[in-house]
Amino acid sequence: MDRLFMRRPAPPLWPSHPLPPLQRPNPRRRRLLAIAGGAMLLPAAWPGPAAAQSPSPSPSPSPSPQQAVPRPSGSKPMQIGVIGSGRIGGTVGGLWVKAGYPVLFSSRHPEQLKPLVDGLGSLARAGTVAEAVAFGDVLFIAVPYGALPEVGKEHGRGMAGKVVLDATNAYRHRDGAAGEDALANGIGPTTAKYLPGARIVRAFNFTSASDFATRHHQEPRIAIPIAGDDRAALDTASELVRAAGFEPVVVGPLKIADSFAPGGPLFRQVGNAEELRQKARAAVPAPPPGR
Ligand SMILES: NC(=O)c1ccc[n+]([C@@H]2O[C@H](COP(=O)([O-])OP(=O)(O)OC[C@H]3O[C@@H](n4cnc5c(N)ncnc54)[C@H](OP(=O)(O)O)[C@@H]3O)[C@@H](O)[C@H]2O)c1
Repeated sequence: MDRLFMRRPAPPLWPSHPLPPLQRPNPRRRRLLAIAGGAMLLPAAWPGPAAAQSPSPSPSPSPSPQQAVPRPSGSKPMQIGVIGSGRIGGTVGGLWVKAGYPVLFSSRHPEQLKPLVDGLGSLARAGTVAEAVAFGDVLFIAVPYGALPEVGKEHGRGMAGKVVLDATNAYRHRDGAAGEDALANGIGPTTAKYLPGARIVRAFNFTSASDFATRHHQEPRIAIPIAGDDRAALDTASELVRAAGFEPVVVGPLKIADSFAPGGPLFRQVGNAEELRQKARAAVPAPPPGR
C-alpha cells in the first residue's frame, strides 16, 4: 500500500455488513427498481450521458501514478478543495496531487493535516473548510453523512454553482437524522437538498479507501460508478476519476446513486468498466419497450 492511505489508524471500513450486497435484504433495491423506468434506462429523458456508459474517452493515455496529467498547453489545472481529509479525502485528494492538481485539504483543525500535506509536496496545502470552499474550482466532500447539514448551513453559499464530488455514505447507526433522510429519500437527492445549488456528482463512495489507495492505475482500470444530473459536472468528475487512475462509468442521474451506495447492488462491485456496465444493466432492468 502506498503512502496515500494515511493519517489515522483505521477503524473497520465497512460497518455491519456481514453479507455481500446482493444477498442482503435490501429495501433500497425495491426503490431502485421502482425508479428505473423513469431514470437510469431512459437516457433520452435525461440530459446526462447514456446510462451506464463511460463518457467521452480520455483525451490522452493514462499517466503513471507519479506523472502529471497532460493538459492542453496554457490551461491551468483545476484547483480542488477537499472537505473532510480523513481516509477517503486524504487518499483521493492525494491521488490528485500526484496527478498534478493543486489540492487544499481542509479540517476543523488544519494544523493536524501537516503530516498529510508535507508528505504530498508543494501542490498540497492545508486549511479551514471555508478556505477549501473558496480555493476549489471543484470540491470533494468526504465527511460523515451526519455532518452534511452543518457543512451545508455553514458553507453552502460558497459551494453553490461549483462541481462537488460527493463520496459520503449514509449509515443509520452513525449519521442520525441526515442518514435516515438519505436512506429514505435517496442519497443523491438528499445531498443536493443539503447543498443547494451545488452541482453534485456522486463518486468515490462505492468501495473502500484502501481500494482507492492500492488499486489506482491498475490495468485494466478499476471502474468507478458516478451519478449526477449535470452533464458538464459529470465530465469534470470523469476527468478527475481518470486523473486519480480509474475509469468513470456514468450510471445515471442522482436519483440512481443508491445503486452504488451501501446496500445497493453495485456497492463494492470492484471490476473493470465493462464488468460494471454489465452489472449495472443486470441490477436495474430496462423498462418494457414503449414505456
Ligand atoms: N473510509 C472509507 O473506506 C469510505 C469509503 C467510501 C465512502 N466513505 C464515506 O466517506 C465519508 C468519510 O469517510 P472517512 O472514512 O474518510 O471518514 P474519516 O476518516 O473519519 O474522515 C472524515 C473527516 O470529516 C471531517 N469532518 C467531520 N465532521 C465535519 C464537519 N462537521 N465539518 C467539516 N469536516 C468534518 C473530519 O475532519 P476534522 O475532524 O479534521 O475536521 C474527518 O477527517 C463518510 O461519509 C463515509 O461513509 C468512506
